[in-house]
Amino acid sequence: MQVNNEFKPTIVAFCCNWCSYAGADLSGTNRLNYPANVKIIRVPCSCRVNPMFILRAFQRGADGVIICGCHPGDCHYTTGNYYARRRMTLLFSMLDYLGIEKGRTRVEWVSAAEGAKFAATMNEFVETVTKLGENKRLEDLRCKN
Ligand code: FES
Repeated sequence: MQVNNEFKPTIVAFCCNWCSYAGADLSGTNRLNYPANVKIIRVPCSCRVNPMFILRAFQRGADGVIICGCHPGDCHYTTGNYYARRRMTLLFSMLDYLGIEKGRTRVEWVSAAEGAKFAATMNEFVETVTKLGENKRLEDLRCKN
């Protein structure tokens, strides 16, 4: 038996309940493939994602973190994604300063009707993070198995 030692990044995807999570669901229903190493966490809105969640994900071994929400103007809570976008812009620039490559973090707007976009985004993101390799910068050794 041949063992495949190819690096498979751990990806954490925060998806808002009203659009992106439904988009992920639709991509599954349409049998569109995206890598199984994408771990989806459903949140009520993209603005629910506290910057600490992202830092914690990196500490616990995530190689990439993506936040998906409704398109601007379509947020179920009216302006939640505007807050998320602003917050993440600041956080990502701070992470870049700390040495976390920009490719490891991303914000994407995916509606409930965009199952194909969800799958394409995840495939593309996983490919980018795979090229960057394992994330070691913020890894918390206490969280290692
Ligand atoms: Fe989807 Fe706010 S409910 S981003």
